[in-house]
Amino acid sequence: MNAADTATRAAEAVRRCHVLASCSEEPGVTTRRFLSPPMHDVHAQVRQWMQAAGMTVTVDHAGNVRGVYLGTSAPPQRLYIGSHLDTVPAAGAFDGILGVMLGLALVESLGGRRLPFAIEVVGFSEEEGVRFGTPFIGSRALAGSLGQDLLARKDAHGHTVVDAIRAFGLDPSRVGEARVDTPAVGYLEFHIEQGPVLDGLDLPLSVVDAIVGMSQLTLTFAGAANHAGTTPMTARHDAVAAAAEWVLAVERLALDTAGLVATVGQVAASPGATNVIAGTCTATLDVRHARDDVRGTAVATLLEHAGTVATRRGLELWHHVRLDHPATAMDARLIALLEQAVADTGAPAHHMASGAGHDAMVLARHMPVAMLFLRSPGGLSHHPDEAVREADVAAALGAGVRFLELLAAERS
Ligand code: HGY
Ligand code: MN
Ligand code: MN
Repeated sequence: MNAADTATRAAEAVRRCHVLASCSEEPGVTTRRFLSPPMHDVHAQVRQWMQAAGMTVTVDHAGNVRGVYLGTSAPPQRLYIGSHLDTVPAAGAFDGILGVMLGLALVESLGGRRLPFAIEVVGFSEEEGVRFGTPFIGSRALAGSLGQDLLARKDAHGHTVVDAIRAFGLDPSRVGEARVDTPAVGYLEFHIEQGPVLDGLDLPLSVVDAIVGMSQLTLTFAGAANHAGTTPMTARHDAVAAAAEWVLAVERLALDTAGLVATVGQVAASPGATNVIAGTCTATLDVRHARDDVRGTAVATLLEHAGTVATRRGLELWHHVRLDHPATAMDARLIALLEQAVADTGAPAHHMASGAGHDAMVLARHMPVAMLFLRSPGGLSHHPDEAVREADVAAALGAGVRFLELLAAERS
């Protein structure tokens, strides 16, 4: 594929991301949670593009869009290329979606040519964990690890994952059919870096070496609601004040621990009125580090501190672990091929760890995985102003085409 074609296909991939960004639960912003109504529009549009590229398209019962482009291989060896189609609230247009559009663009770039393996482009139904408080529903279905406990998880309206699947017109009893049962060559995910590293180095791409480990929990501080005007300050068991004291300790620990990030992204007070001392306050905790022992120690330290704060203030504390995912190394062989592909296309080489979680970390337990990052201008993501440079998308596409050539040569 010459440079002009690559640029044209890259521009089309970016355009398609913007088209899908308009499929939203809310006007004016991009919010698309697990199997929300606008996901029907996304499926219809992605299906149309995939079918035009000569792919056979299905939607599995976990809501993943699956486009298969057959190869020449007798044993149906399959390379999976994908990312997620759901978004965080008020998202940008590229987190996840660009990875699916680049997989589609790679198939289109073959122009009908067949490789010694099939390619399956997957648009995962849910990676962000927004609706049900736990991520990776879509990729867990492919990995065969979407268990009953997760299917029973409830959203803010009391609907379970099973309810959501059924309401979307799918059959929750058939989620097991989503499991990958074809011998996998591996999984490749293109994704925006979502951080400041490549932008700071003025680099377009980076091969990912590993994805940091992630812990996600919910803590509940339970005190005593009371009248804001008549209750003496010394007689209070204020759940928000307790949580606030703890949140500052979360930040302090992360600032004092090299390589650790810790975030309290959601806080909810109850009953939630100006003139009522909060009886309960729930807070989410997201802790990440490249080393699982450091992450584990940090989580234990923060839970212990929450208990100390609660006890001193005369509150109860309980917590729920929603995710405890180990740090995940990418496959050395695929990294070498991806590194070679980037070098062959003339892009400067770079390696880095991913501070963001990705579907690749779920699939890594079942097949070799690799990721290629694209620069995030301004280091911005999970924000409406999230962006990509078309030239970087073209560089990623060129490296992807070369990766397919190297993989095909290796398997011929
Ligand atoms: O939270 C993450 O790291 C990813 O964006 N879901
Ligand atoms: Mn994200
Ligand atoms: Mn993502």
